[in-house]
Amino acid sequence: MSKATDFHDRLLSLGLARVSEAAALASAGLIGRGDEKAADQAAVNAMREQLNLLDIAGVVVIGEGERDEAPMLYIGEEVGSGEGPGVDIALDPLEGTTLTAKDMPNALTVISMGPRGSMLHAPDVYMEKLAIGPGYPQDVVTLDMPPAERVTALAAAKGCPPEDITVCILERPRHEEMIAAVRSTGAAIRLITDGDVAGVIHCAEAEKTGIDMYMGSGGAPEGVLAASALKCMGGQIYGRLLFRNDDEKGRAKRAGITDLDRVYARDDMVTRDVIFAATGVTDGSILTGVKRGPGWVETETLLMRSATGSVRRMRYRSQV
Ligand code: FBP
Repeated sequence: MSKATDFHDRLLSLGLARVSEAAALASAGLIGRGDEKAADQAAVNAMREQLNLLDIAGVVVIGEGERDEAPMLYIGEEVGSGEGPGVDIALDPLEGTTLTAKDMPNALTVISMGPRGSMLHAPDVYMEKLAIGPGYPQDVVTLDMPPAERVTALAAAKGCPPEDITVCILERPRHEEMIAAVRSTGAAIRLITDGDVAGVIHCAEAEKTGIDMYMGSGGAPEGVLAASALKCMGGQIYGRLLFRNDDEKGRAKRAGITDLDRVYARDDMVTRDVIFAATGVTDGSILTGVKRGPGWVETETLLMRSATGSVRRMRYRSQV
């Protein structure tokens, strides 16, 4: 018989959607206002308030930063009523603070939950990432392949010329060489200015988004969130932590990481079944942003469970 302390992912998933919706609604008032911090803080406050209504004994393992840097939802913060299952929580209350401040596409609120011990405690450093959607043989592309080889390998597996592959990459000076190498194959590149969790999710719905592969470096916490999404949707993601100095290596060691060069596959970053919710803040190619009308607000949320691979898109409308 199941106990109140078991991880009931079906029951918890609607609660998770509410958390994600509340954060999106709170930050929506700050879309296009040029204030990243205010938008982020609004999302953090709302997410925390809703999380504390859930009957869980939750610990934030991927959060806003370390305790001394983040006033709320810091790594190690306990959330929930304390009654119920012990769970790990990975969250990014506003993924794309600049996208929100500038009213650009694909800003999301993101949260994932799994049984205690199910997620990599990734420190707040960079991670080299590579992701593709479902339906390909395992390891058809790897982090050790140079970027051009990844394109040709994926094209061969898809049965198309490299020209028909589109790769999503964060537009950063550090990616210039990678971008040139991908272009040399004839593949197309969708450059994004921010938001690599959305960038990776795009690969899982290639027929809709037109993106076949994501590559490049971004935040390690976002890497774990993206792994969680792909565990639900299918697809492969690899990540390797990148360290710029000893302080960053120290952060990893404090998080319990001993092999600093390890390549993490999806199921190394997220080891057990999880639930995942993301709500659109601004309009994007995977989710519609928050909409308002006279007396109402509406959100769209992606709500997923890896145990069944179920992917729901939920519209929520409320009177205001
Ligand atoms: P924020 O929403 O916290 O601003 O993060 C946005 C983001 O684009 C992430 O999606 C990505 O992983 C990271 O920043 C990339 O970092 P950087 O801007 O330093 O290249």
